[in-house]
Amino acid sequence: MPQIFIFIKQRTDRENVALIGGGHTFGKTHGACPDGAGPSPAENEDNPYPGMCGATGKGVDAFTSGFEGPWTSHPTMWDNEYMKNLLDYEWEARVGPGGKHQWRVVNNEGGSRPRAPKAHGNGTTDIMMLTTDIALVMDPIYRTYVKEFATDIDSFSKAFAEVWYKLTSRDIGPYGRCAGQDIPPPQPFQNQLPDPAPEGKTIDWSLVEEVLHDLIATDHDGNDGTVGEFLRLSWQCARYVSVPRRFSHKISSLCTR
Ligand code: HEM
Repeated sequence: MPQIFIFIKQRTDRENVALIGGGHTFGKTHGACPDGAGPSPAENEDNPYPGMCGATGKGVDAFTSGFEGPWTSHPTMWDNEYMKNLLDYEWEARVGPGGKHQWRVVNNEGGSRPRAPKAHGNGTTDIMMLTTDIALVMDPIYRTYVKEFATDIDSFSKAFAEVWYKLTSRDIGPYGRCAGQDIPPPQPFQNQLPDPAPEGKTIDWSLVEEVLHDLIATDHDGNDGTVGEFLRLSWQCARYVSVPRRFSHKISSLCTR
């Protein structure tokens, strides 16, 4: 089963469990209705993927993966409830509101399931799991680590902190080239990369930050909105480079400015 998670190779089974569980301690999946995300950027570049569940595409209407629900009963807090939930409940597959198979807690004797506050609006909602989450307790090796983390929050917190650092730092360049005030020290568990001195002058990120703030502030003060639009659509510029013919003159002029 660990072979399923090929995208996270170069990490141990224990690290994979910590990483997935730590990620899914927070947030929720988004798929409030079966009607999907709506027109893609190629079909509607001004308002891509608006969500067809109310059409604002935001909050309750957000549609991304098509699954729906949080993994824990307080998805804005760090804890090890994800691990406990996997072990403490019996889970059953069902089709969620977005039309995709996901997992919910089998009713206990009183007929109630654990609930979480809704991300938007009042009230509560069922917690859920994805098939890949359930796989963590089906596999005997991964299950050992789920058990460890469910009973020892400190060990989970440390394992997650280390593998998160590994995920975000390894293979992306020598430590000596990291810039900014929030750089954690190099860690013994990451790849030991060579550390040649940077060639030439490095970027002054505080200046970049200052310029961006000024641009956004100017934009808010009433010019034609071009800067804000550029920032909002900059991800489309990356696509424009690879598939230019699919985009209008408007996007191409923004991206080539
Ligand atoms: C087997 C591996 C994983 C699978 C299959 C998976 C799948 C998903 C899916 C389908 C969603 C819902 C997206 C949406 O509907 O908007 C999601 C959300 C999320 N995932 Fe994962 N994920 C995996 C691993 C991870 C890892 C390693 C992290 C971070 C360390 C992570 C962090 C999150 C977070 C924070 C959310 C919630 C986002 C939100 O609240 O909008 N996931 N994941």
